Amino acid sequence: EKGGYDYFMLKEIAEQPRAVADTLLGRIDPSGSLTLDEVRISPSELREIDKVVIVACGTAFHAGLIAKYAIEHWTRIPCEVELASEFRYRDPILDGRSLVIAISQSGETMDTLMALRHAREQGSKVLAICNTNGSTIPRESDAVLYTHAGPEVAVASTKAFLTQLVACYLVALYLGQVRGTKWGDEIQAVIKDLSRISEEVERVLETMEPVRALARTLASKNTVLFLGRHVGYPVALEGALKLKELAYMHAEGFAAGELKHGPIALIEEDLPVVVVVPSPRGRSVLHDKIVSNIQEIRARGARTIVIAEEGDETVVPYADHLIRIPATPTLLQPLVATVPLQVFACELATARGNEVDQPRNLAKSVTVE
Ligand code: F6R
Repeated sequence: EKGGYDYFMLKEIAEQPRAVADTLLGRIDPSGSLTLDEVRISPSELREIDKVVIVACGTAFHAGLIAKYAIEHWTRIPCEVELASEFRYRDPILDGRSLVIAISQSGETMDTLMALRHAREQGSKVLAICNTNGSTIPRESDAVLYTHAGPEVAVASTKAFLTQLVACYLVALYLGQVRGTKWGDEIQAVIKDLSRISEEVERVLETMEPVRALARTLASKNTVLFLGRHVGYPVALEGALKLKELAYMHAEGFAAGELKHGPIALIEEDLPVVVVVPSPRGRSVLHDKIVSNIQEIRARGARTIVIAEEGDETVVPYADHLIRIPATPTLLQPLVATVPLQVFACELATARGNEVDQPRNLAKSVTVE
């Protein structure tokens, strides 16, 4: 049932183009607009929303962090993202005009469930983004947008994460469409890019051999750091989480702009640092800032592993290892930038002799608080 792969995780990583395409299927109509009929919250109700609050745990929380950039950009509705385990204990400010989005692969995560119950008690509408039909979280929500990743068996989430991102983009674009923001043209263009993105994910998968080879050379390291800016920051957090849970290594993700506020003190000779570089097109300020960050850490001895868009030559002089990803609109980059980090963590885990599908101490669905 592993379809010829050694581990479910490898199979699930390979299934990502299909999972992404399936999650888009039937949701973009031929005219290029979105039809999310399953979201049984009426357009008029969605126009009344004055705040979006996303609650989730672990990898699903990282999808939520990325969703915030998309939702705020395309809809101009303020969006908060919170760990479900923190959310209800701080008496969050919610009312009938708040839309709460609960993201969960399993649909059974207790913290996320308790957060959504709390939100509904405050009169807020809850939209679940979930991969498991008929599970508790969608059953208790006002509406659900299912991700079509198919069953995810490996404990570490991969294809579910990419489909959660797709679902988040769909919700953000749909809210933008329903509310008619000034970004109408951009929304149309991004919907087009999104409809082709599974091919880009496929292209990334075809070029992963050097990433595996690199991972094997790092098997005896103790620490790997991950840096990103903008949507690359949650990607860095996700890369670090994958490495912790699979390779049992100390891995941390930072916002690159925070380096000089502390983390740069960690940089020492030959410390591997993975840097996710935003597209040089689009928000070029971000790109230039991160290139300076790469120079700064390299000058202090870091071994730089740079993930950058094809054609971005500015990073070449500062990259000890360069991993290329296809050009995408800035906000969609996490769909292609996360894949090498999954492969990297999986290969490092294997090289260290760890059980890839069943990491120690972890359970696939966390049904206790
Ligand atoms: C990490 C991982 C976990 C889950 C988290 C939430 O690879 O799998 O961090 O993402 O436990 O689970 P769901 O999405 O089922 O609510």
